[in-house]
Amino acid sequence: MCGIVGYIGKRQAYPVLVKGLKRLEYRGYDSAGVALISSESNSLNVYKTKGKVSDLEAYVSDKDITGTIGIAHTRWATHGEPNSTNAHPHISNSGNLALIHNGIIENYASLKKMLIGKGVEFKSNTDTEVLVQLIDYIRTSKNIDLLSAVQMALRSVIGAYAIAILDKENPDQIIAARKSSPLVVGIGEDEFFLGSDASPLIEYTNKVIYLDDGDIAVINRGQEVKIVDFNNTELNHDVTEVELNLAQIEKGGFPHFMLKEIFEQPECLKDCMRGRVNVEVGQIILSSIIDNRSRLLNPRRFIIVACGTSWHAALIGKQLIEGFCQIPVSVEYASEFRYSNPAISNKDVVIAISQSGETADTLAAVELAKSRGAFIFGICNAIGSSIPRATHTGAYIHVGPEIGVASTKAFTGQVTVLVMFALALADARGTIDRAQYVKVINELNTIPEKMEEMLKENDRVKEISRIFTYAHNFLYLGRGYNYPVALEGALKLKEISYIHAEGYPAAEMKHGPIALIDEEMPVVVIATKNALYEKVVSNIQEIKARKARVIAIVSKGDEVVRSMADACIELPETVECLEPLLATIPLQMMAYHVAVCKGKDVDQPRNLAKSVTVE
Ligand code: G6P
Repeated sequence: MCGIVGYIGKRQAYPVLVKGLKRLEYRGYDSAGVALISSESNSLNVYKTKGKVSDLEAYVSDKDITGTIGIAHTRWATHGEPNSTNAHPHISNSGNLALIHNGIIENYASLKKMLIGKGVEFKSNTDTEVLVQLIDYIRTSKNIDLLSAVQMALRSVIGAYAIAILDKENPDQIIAARKSSPLVVGIGEDEFFLGSDASPLIEYTNKVIYLDDGDIAVINRGQEVKIVDFNNTELNHDVTEVELNLAQIEKGGFPHFMLKEIFEQPECLKDCMRGRVNVEVGQIILSSIIDNRSRLLNPRRFIIVACGTSWHAALIGKQLIEGFCQIPVSVEYASEFRYSNPAISNKDVVIAISQSGETADTLAAVELAKSRGAFIFGICNAIGSSIPRATHTGAYIHVGPEIGVASTKAFTGQVTVLVMFALALADARGTIDRAQYVKVINELNTIPEKMEEMLKENDRVKEISRIFTYAHNFLYLGRGYNYPVALEGALKLKEISYIHAEGYPAAEMKHGPIALIDEEMPVVVIATKNALYEKVVSNIQEIKARKARVIAIVSKGDEVVRSMADACIELPETVECLEPLLATIPLQMMAYHVAVCKGKDVDQPRNLAKSVTVE
């Protein structure tokens, strides 16, 4: 939700800022803006427009974009419709301060009322403008410096924010602050960068400071970054070296990030398993389990909290952990859990799954569970993000940055970590027999190769997808481990093609969805040869009797379903618990191709954002 970039140094700021915004556009893309202090006139130039970063570029083509200091923003609207007035940066009435913001100021209405009472005039409908007006009002009415005014203003603010502020009177300083929304300071040679994540900075430096909640960074040209809290106490922060490289965040010849990320999955899973899966000795090593045996081996239960695609991975995790470890597991939407007064104690372990590591609801669920004594295990992708930093321990999925808004490689990475977690824990608890343990490890090791095989089906999936672009509704069915796959397939389709799609456990079809089935509603069925195969075959017969078209995901060589289905995609054979890693791939490809055929913006679907840092 909203991307923030900042620069101060010896280069021209604008090119750095715009490139950075493009890297952060996955966070929000309904409007964009930039503020620069001109090296020609010393004026504070603010340019903003509705639309994407490319629209901003067109808008500034005849403007003064000089300056070696600037801040820029790409927006996902919360308060106020997406238009150029509500776009950031916002400027204070005096015209001296420009501010960009990611997050929500919850008490903005009462602050706005107070400021209007003092004669402050507002131009936009945003909560952000309230903040910049408040800071300027405090500064001028109390005649104090900008830092003190920021500290005082933030003390009266309720909500979440990452902000950066420019002061026209001081072209050598940016002030930035964070609470519950991510912010990273990049440190170069005589230059500094700001970013919502490290991707806008890595071209220039790999040295970063991840700001913590309550931090205010004072970045002065030619000096060391100073980090203070609201009471002006100076804080020490480690400088971290980031390992991102440029190739990881560029499209590499693919037309969209989503397709690139679908195709990266075999390599991603190898990275995810590297050093953890040892086929020679038949063992899985997760250091977080070894180091925390006393908390992890015998909990009363596991509670998995997550949102969106990560919640689907959690449903697979439940089956894995209960099946292998014989410990009860519940799966909760983080957004519900955080307000539910859950009965948890220090005997429970909460697993938080989040690709971005920044999802506000998941982070709040973690804080709640922690406050009640639960031990927290994080499964995240973004290194150094807020959730891994708030958990007691965890395992990164190591699939590299995911840019496409529709999650693909993160899902298979999450499932892979959950498989490793369940196996390692079951082994440590003695609840899995050696033969089964070794079999699943060996199979897991072959998954990247089998994924390659699946990816070869891309052209065929594209052909199949073309046929189904007419549909307004889709049903996805699966059972057991493949029920969450059905949910994920439906989510992918609706996210990027805007076709209504629902996922169901196949047997539930008769309790409602069957009423919708007719020749206009294609049904995707995952019908692999496992314990419930015969039952799913009966479901397919029921669907065909109602004249719907069936797209089936089947085990290699299945002639029974092939004879009934309108289109079939075969999966290489594997053990049942690993089928989701393969069955998801054609569903991702299908969603992608349907959306492309319909001319939709695959990487930046309407109304969505990659990292949901607000409630
Ligand atoms: C957003 C994204 C989804 C993602 C969900 C949870 O809705 O568009 O792709 O699954 O957030 O995100 P997380 O980063 O916590 O996994």
